[in-house]
Amino acid sequence: MMRIRERMLMAKILIIHGPNLGLLGEREPDIYGTFTLEEVNSELKYIASGNNVDIEFFQSDSEGDIVSKIGRAKDVIDIIIINPAGYTHTSVAIRDAIEASSLPAIEVHLSNIYAREEFRSKSLIAPVCCGQISGFGKDSYILALEAALKILNLS
Ligand code: DQA
Repeated sequence: MMRIRERMLMAKILIIHGPNLGLLGEREPDIYGTFTLEEVNSELKYIASGNNVDIEFFQSDSEGDIVSKIGRAKDVIDIIIINPAGYTHTSVAIRDAIEASSLPAIEVHLSNIYAREEFRSKSLIAPVCCGQISGFGKDSYILALEAALKILNLS
């Protein structure tokens, strides 16, 4: 069951970038674009600053670290935006962590995972998320942030 924390403090969004996303800008730019992860994060931070919301960013190539981060988010985060990257298609553990957190989550992909190799069209994470945004490059994150603000009743 999803839940939004009730509190008087500023709402907090956790944005998780999965494996290899630290390589944005140099990694397959024809698929993922030429912008860096830093650039994505600073654009998101700028949008958040105008919307009374705080963002924490977390990038890891390790499945276990992502699982632990989600586990710790339970009482301090209001909503998760996650690009699980390659773990999208394989990770029961990340899926279970999101479900166990009871936090609302939004899945993001830069590329359209349904227009690529067959194995990418299956997400183990999507069923435990409110929704999925896929295929809009950097704008996928911006659209996810807009969706998160709506879920939090901040826009
Ligand atoms: C990705 C799509 C995944 O299939 C891939 O493994 C990634 C990036 C995306 O943002 O388009 O690493 O999540």
